[in-house]
Parts: sequence; C-alpha cells; structure tokens
Amino acid sequence: MTELTILMPCLNEAATVGRCVAKARGFLQRAGIDGEVLIADNGSDDGSRMLAERAGARVIEVAERGYGAALAGGIAAARGRSIIMGDADDSYDFDRLDGFVAKLREGYPLVMGNRFRGGVQKGAMPLLHRYLGNPVLSFVGRLLFRAKVGDLHCGLRGFDREAVRSLHLRTTGMEFASELVVKASLAGWRIAEVPTTLHPDGRGRPPHLRTWRDGWRHLRFLLLFSPRWLFLYPGLALLALGVALTTALYFTPVHFLGAGLDIHSMLYASAAALLGMQLCLFALFARVSAQNAGLLPRQPSVDRLLTTLTLERGLLLGLALALCGLFWSGAAFWQWREAGFGALDPRVVMRDTIPAAALMVGGMEIMLAAFLLSILSLQDSGWPPRSGPDSARVAGELFASGTAKRKAGRLTEALADFSQTAELRPHDPGCLLQAAEVAYLVGKPQLALEYCGRLRSVAPGLDATDMLEAHIRFGGEHYLQVMARILDAVKPRTYVEIGVEQGTSLRLVQAPTLAIGIDPEPKLAGALAANQKVFAQTSDDFFATRDLRAELGGLPVDLAFIDGMHQFEFALRDFVNLERFCTRDSTILIDDCYPLNRETAERERRRGFWSGDVWRLILLLKKYRPDLAIHIVATPPTGLAVVRRLDPDSRFLREHHERLCREFLAVDYAFLEDDMPGKLNLFPNDWAKIRALLG
Ligand SMILES: C[S@@+](CC[C@H](N)C(=O)[O-])C[C@H]1O[C@@H](n2cnc3c(N)ncnc32)[C@H](O)[C@@H]1O
Repeated sequence: MTELTILMPCLNEAATVGRCVAKARGFLQRAGIDGEVLIADNGSDDGSRMLAERAGARVIEVAERGYGAALAGGIAAARGRSIIMGDADDSYDFDRLDGFVAKLREGYPLVMGNRFRGGVQKGAMPLLHRYLGNPVLSFVGRLLFRAKVGDLHCGLRGFDREAVRSLHLRTTGMEFASELVVKASLAGWRIAEVPTTLHPDGRGRPPHLRTWRDGWRHLRFLLLFSPRWLFLYPGLALLALGVALTTALYFTPVHFLGAGLDIHSMLYASAAALLGMQLCLFALFARVSAQNAGLLPRQPSVDRLLTTLTLERGLLLGLALALCGLFWSGAAFWQWREAGFGALDPRVVMRDTIPAAALMVGGMEIMLAAFLLSILSLQDSGWPPRSGPDSARVAGELFASGTAKRKAGRLTEALADFSQTAELRPHDPGCLLQAAEVAYLVGKPQLALEYCGRLRSVAPGLDATDMLEAHIRFGGEHYLQVMARILDAVKPRTYVEIGVEQGTSLRLVQAPTLAIGIDPEPKLAGALAANQKVFAQTSDDFFATRDLRAELGGLPVDLAFIDGMHQFEFALRDFVNLERFCTRDSTILIDDCYPLNRETAERERRRGFWSGDVWRLILLLKKYRPDLAIHIVATPPTGLAVVRRLDPDSRFLREHHERLCREFLAVDYAFLEDDMPGKLNLFPNDWAKIRALLG
C-alpha cells in the first residue's frame, strides 16, 4: 500500500507548482518512501495542470470551488495511508518533510507544522498576520478547544487519511484549516508539531488569502464551534452580575465610584440578568443541535442534564418562577390599592415591580426553552439507542469494533466506540475500563480520570483502575525504563536487588556488572544470564547468613534496588543492611515510595495493586538522616526513590531501630495528604535531571 500522498491544492500556480512537485518527488525518492504527489486542481486556467503533470504529479480536478473543497477532493482521491498537505506556491519546504514522516510513523494522527518555531523568512508573511492574526487565532484555538497547537493555520500538515475522513469535515473555504484542528482536538487526538520554515511565495501575484475577510471567517468558525465561549461564559457572567446588582439594590441604593445607583440601575441589572439567562439557554440549544448534527461529540454531562431537565420539570420550574413574579406583583398591586390607586413613590414600588416582572419573564422563558429543547431532542438521530432491545446488540457491536480498532492502533476511533458503549452500559466495568485506557492513550487524561471515577463506583477495588490512575498521575517513563537508563549511565560494577519475582528488573543488568538478587520465592520467567545470580531466601536471612562483600568478589555495592517486602520495617532493615556495603558514590533505589491512595498504601496487602507503607521509610530518612540526598522520581506506577550520599559507617538507624519503628508506624497516611510532593521529595521524571542526581 502506498505510504504517503503529498497533496497540494492548486488554483493558478503555474509559476511554482512544477517546482513544488519536483521538490516533493525528490523528497520521496531520497527518503525511499513509496508515495505519490497529488495535485487537487481547483479550476486553474494558467496551465498549472499541465506543468504539474509534466513534473510527475497525479492531477485531479475538483469542480467545487474553495480551499477546503479542493483539499477534501484530494483527500478522497489520495492513495497514501498518510497525507502531507501544503500550498503549491513554493512557500514550504517540500523537500524537507522528514520530521512529518517520522511523527506520522510514530502513530500521530495529525502532525502540524509550526512556522513560528521553524522561522518565517523576511517577506513571507505580512506583519499583520505574523504578529496579530496568526498568534491571536492560535491563542483562541488553544483556549477554546485546548488544541495543543502553536500555529493553528500552518498550511503544511500531515495526517492519517482514514482518521481525517472519519472527522467528516464540512467546510469548503479557508476555514477547512481550522475545522481540521478543532475537530481533531475535540476528538482528543494526539497532535505533534514540527518546526517548519515559511519562505516568501514564488508567484509574484497577490495571495488568495484576504486578511480581514478570512481572519474574521476563521474567528467566527472557532466561536461557532464553542457555544461555551460564545454563549455560556458571557451568559453566566451577565446573569451573576445582574442578579447580584438587582439583589443589592432591592435593599438600598448603592454608591459605586462616586455614582449613586438606584432603581434605574436596577432595571438595567434585571435586563442583564434576563439576557444572561437567555445566553445560557442558547448555549444549551447550540450544544444540543451541534451534537445532534454530529458537529460536536456527545458530552456525557449534557446528556445527563437533558435526562434530568425533562420537559415537565422545565415547565414546572418556569411556572414556579413566573408565579413567584406574579404574586410579588400582586403584593405591589395591593400596596397601590391600599393607597387608593393614587400616585406612589416609584423609588419604593419599583423595587418590587422590577424583580417581579423579571421573574415573570424569566419563568416564561424557561417554559418556552423547555419546549424548544424537547423539540431539538426529537431531532436526535437516535443512534445509538440508549435503551431497549436494540441497545444491547449495538453495545456489543460497538465494543467489538472498538476492540478491533484498538488492536489496529486506531485509538481515536476506538475511543469513540468505547465512549458510546460506556453510555449504553454505564455499569459494565469492562466498557468503562476500555474507555478509560483508550482515553489515556489518546492523550485525554481528564476524560480517562472521569471514567476511572465511574469505574470506582461500579467496581471498587479494581487493580486496573489504580494502575491506570497511577499512570495518569505521573505519565512519563515507567520505573523499569528509568532503571534501565540508570544502569546504562552508572555502569555499576555490582548490583544487588532485594525482591526479584519474575526477574524483570534483574534482567536489565548486563554483563560485566555482577548482579545478585535476593527473594524467598523467586518466580523467574526464564533462565538468567551468567552475570545474574539469585539467592532464594529472605533478605534478613541473607544478611544474617552470608557475607555480601564476599558474594560480590570483594567489591562494594555500587547500585542497589529495594523492592522486596513492602512493609516499612522490612524496607528499613534492607536499607540499613545494604548501606553498610556501599561507598559514598553508591546509589540505593527504593521502589513504590509514593503511594496512590490510602487503601493501597496500607500495611496489609488486600489486592494486586499495593505499594505498602514503604513511604514511611522516606519520612524517617528525611528526618533522621539529613546527610542523605533523597529524591523520589515521579515514575509510574508509584515512584522510584534515588538515595545518594550514603554513609557505610552510619550507625544511627541500626542503633535506634526499635524506637524509629515505633515512631513511624504511628504516622497516619493523613500526614502525607496536605503536601505529598513536598513531604516525599517528589522529583521530575526527566532523564536529564535524574542523570544529574547520579553524580
Ligand atoms: C514487587 S516484587 C519484585 C519485582 C521486581 N523487582 C521487578 O521490578 O520486576 C516483590 C518481591 O519481593 C519478594 N519478597 C517478599 N518478601 C521478601 C523478603 N523479606 N526479602 C526479599 N524479598 C522478598 C516477593 O517474593 C516478590 O517476589
């Protein structure tokens, strides 16, 4: 199968298209990639088609006008599994696409060029675009959609063809560029960035882009896709301000910045509150319509709100508010009647009539909104069915499809399937776990945590939930990867490991390092290498019956790893015993010192995921051995402590063992909770920094 299509939309680019095609073909050849160069011609009448063909491109004609239409036509016709698109005006380096290909091969569904990181050459971009248009639009994109993209409108980008087809992009104009990034971000795609240089285009005629018209079209598009920022946030602000000011003025006039605010201000404040409420309702209408039309992904919180806010409840709420307003007006009418329907002091009466009228109008609006929402909900395509006989079948199919896509590495699509399955089977831990894991894998940790929370409520005590949460919390390299790096960097002559189990960590140690493992019940998953040896006894027994230095051929311990019995006093004894055989340059690593939660940090092991109370050892060492350098590297699942500046002659821990055990066994887990990173010396999981710790 063709790996790559280099796609260029083209409208009258005779001056440059041949050069662009030649560069792109040259790149494919140099990089040894099975690929094609595809020109999506959008009605050129200057010979661009012929020139492109002559330079070796495949050319297709896209009849519908517009940048987006041309690209959509090109994407539909592309043969490559991946596509790199860019303008045919010679402003991008088609002969230097290695960075894009590397990221696409790593599995990123979208790879964006970044002209601000790669360099914008003199005259390549008008100052207005460079310093205002592009930064502002990119900022808005990041703010509204959490798109991790520094240059939202860079025209040079790479993507997975099938993944982009699944986004069902609709715009035909310049907004296509925004639509791709917005929908990719909303779908939770991992997006990579590659620095790209922008050159002045080689056409010698004005570009198709028109600053203000196209800038506004992009901004408008971004806002339309974000009812939250267009309606909800301004609405909430107006509502809060209006209600607060009306309430304050109900009791007394307010003096603010030298101005006296009274009933006139109250009238405007009530109007603001009403407008704010309307905007909030609009946000809901827009979201529901966009979800139903498939423009925005379904949001569980909106679905939940709609199930709670039924037509009947909406009508009752609106009616209640309207009636409050009516009775309040009745009271004001009563006052008027008491005064014999004569003239009343407006500063007194309006204090009642303004909020009363606002309540009546607001109540009626809520009733109308409830009707409108139920009409919009009728327009829901109804798929997938949320209940009924069909839902079980559909859930099964979706789950199977999600599993297959996950296996095939199409994670974004798998997430869409698992999310729908999780809505259909909200109490099925299997569905929730898949949704959580895949959400994490596509780089949506918040969503993954949301699913973990739901998992905990339907299946408390599931190891997989803890493991996933632990990975989300720290991210970065696993402790075994960090250990492999440490071994490689330190190149110890000797290595001692307490707690071997299957030998996964012990097997990382390569010759000529002499490696000794100690474990009463080793469950080695295969033969050991000649430099690795395991003693099948407890560590206490080992140190009582053997001479470690002799076992190490007379050498000290250069590197040790404590991962045996995960109870504090055992780990303490292991530390004390090992330190005696260390030098000032040695390092002791201790596993599982940074617990995930109270349950898995207890002394008793209740289930698979368990870090025990080794964390107490860190508290003890910090307090009584200030001479040590202690850092817990934030490795998943529960941290890896790196202890340096060891002192083989130190006697304090040995001599006060009993007392220290008593003192630290009395510390409750709650002690950690207000500042776990500070109390346990959490250290970034960043290899350059870890390397510096190792001397
Ligand atoms: C978490 S596993 C070790 C995993 C291994 N270090 C790795 O990373 O692949 C803990 C091991 O400690 C062993 N163990 C339990 N009590 C011990 C003790 N008192 N001395 C030495 N090892 C012990 C258990 O038998 C178990 O195999």
